[in-house]
Amino acid sequence: MKSKRSQLNHSARLAEKRFGICEHQLLIGDLSIQELTKKFGTPLFIYHRETITNTIRDLQSRLPDRCQLYYSIKANPNAAILRTVLAEGCGLEIASCGELQQALAAGCHPEQILFAGPGKTIAELNAALEAGIGEIHVESIEEARWINQLAGEKRSVESISLRVNPVDTAGGAMQMGGRPSPFGIDEETLESVVAEIKQQDNTRITGVHLYMGTQILDADILIAQYHRGISIANAVAEQIESPLATLDFGGGLGTPYFAHETELDLDAFQQGLIEIDKAMASSPWLADTKAIIEPGRFLVNEAGVYVSRVTRVKRSRGKIYAVIDGGMHHHLAASGNLGQTIKRNYPLAILNKIDEPHSADLVEIVGPLCTPLDTLGRSISLPPIEAGDLVGVFQSGAYARAASPLGFLSHPTPAEVMVSEKDAHLIRRRGLAKDLLKDQQLDSTETD
Ligand SMILES: Cc1ncc(COP(=O)(O)O)c(C=O)c1O
Repeated sequence: MKSKRSQLNHSARLAEKRFGICEHQLLIGDLSIQELTKKFGTPLFIYHRETITNTIRDLQSRLPDRCQLYYSIKANPNAAILRTVLAEGCGLEIASCGELQQALAAGCHPEQILFAGPGKTIAELNAALEAGIGEIHVESIEEARWINQLAGEKRSVESISLRVNPVDTAGGAMQMGGRPSPFGIDEETLESVVAEIKQQDNTRITGVHLYMGTQILDADILIAQYHRGISIANAVAEQIESPLATLDFGGGLGTPYFAHETELDLDAFQQGLIEIDKAMASSPWLADTKAIIEPGRFLVNEAGVYVSRVTRVKRSRGKIYAVIDGGMHHHLAASGNLGQTIKRNYPLAILNKIDEPHSADLVEIVGPLCTPLDTLGRSISLPPIEAGDLVGVFQSGAYARAASPLGFLSHPTPAEVMVSEKDAHLIRRRGLAKDLLKDQQLDSTETD
C-alpha cells in the first residue's frame, strides 16, 4: 500500500514540478490537457519548451568556463527539440548519418557536431568528413585505419578523438564501460593503438572521449568517472607529446523515474566540476583543453509527457484492464521492454483526473498490440478509470518515441507537439495507415 501511495505522489510531484494542475487537469504551459488533446488528438507526445530551456540554463550555469554541453540526439531527434537546444548554445552529438542530416537541417554548425558509434560505415565516415564536422570519435583501430585511408584520398589530415573503454568504472543503470564492449578502445590496448595512429599520415589525435553509462543519479559516480577521464587523457597526450583540444566526459546524467529514486544533486555535481576544472588546469596537457559533457536524457526527459486515451475498460477474471490507443509501439521504455531488468511502472496518471481520489481497485494499463508485453501500467492505483480518460506517462521526453518499434502492428504513429506558454505547435504529424504504403516499392526491384 505504501509503495502505491508514493507512486501517486511521485506522478503528482512531477506534474507540479514542471507543469501545473487546474480543475483536476494537467496543465502544460498555460494549456490544459483537454484543450491540447482536443486540438491534436491522441496518442501524442507533448514537450514543454521552457522545461528544456530551464534545465539547460541551470546546468550551464554550473559548468566551468571550459565546458560545453552537446545534446545527444538519440534521446529525441525532433527538429523542434534540436532547434531549442541549439538556441541555448549546445552542440550536438550524433551516432548515424540520419542524425547528421537532422543536425545540419536544424541549423547546427558542422563544427559543433561530434560523431560517436561503434559501427560507422565508410559512407558515414565519408559524409562526416565531407560535412566538416567538429570531431569523429573513433571506437577501434580499424575505424582509425579507414579514416586514415579516406583522408589520404582527400589529401587531408583529419583530427580524431579516441573513445576509450576504461578498465574500471563505477556504474550507471546501463554500464557501457569497464567490461568487454563494442564501444570504445580497451584501455589496456590504448598504448599500442595510439602508437599505430601516431604513424598514420592522415590522422591526428586531438581528443579523448569516455562514455561509461546512462541514467546515473549519483554525482560522485559521474565525477569519479571524469577523474578517470583526466588520467586517461593525460596518458594519451603524453604519448603523442601534444596537448589535447577536447576531453569529452560523456553523458549519462539521470532523471528519476521511480518513487525510490532521487534527483541528481546538481550542487554536488557543480562542486565536483570545480575540482575537475582545477585538475585540468594543473595538467600541462589539459590546461587549455575544452571539456565536453554530452547528455541526452537529462536535457529533455522531464519536458515530455506521452498521452493516450482509454478506448475501453474491460474486466477479466478479477482484473481490470484499461485499453489505451497507444502503447509499447510508441513508448517501449515505459512498457519495461527497453533493456530493464525489473519492469516498474513509469510515473503514470489520469491527466483529466490528476488530483482526484484513487479507487480501491488496481488497474492494468494495456495497449492495443497483440502481446502481453504491451503493458504500460501494472497493478496501478489510479482514480476510477473509464473510456475517454487521458492516460499520461511522465518522464517521456527522452528514449521514448525515438526508441520504440513504431511499425509493429501498423497502428498510426503518435503526433508530437511543442508547448511554450500559450502556444502549442504540431512538430510532427501523426503517421496514418496510408503512409505505410508510401515507401514500399511494390512493383520494383530497387533495393535502395
Ligand atoms: C556516446 C554517447 N553519448 C551520449 C549518450 C547520451 O546518454 P544519456 O542520455 O544517458 O545522457 C549516449 C547514449 O547512449 C551515448 O552512447
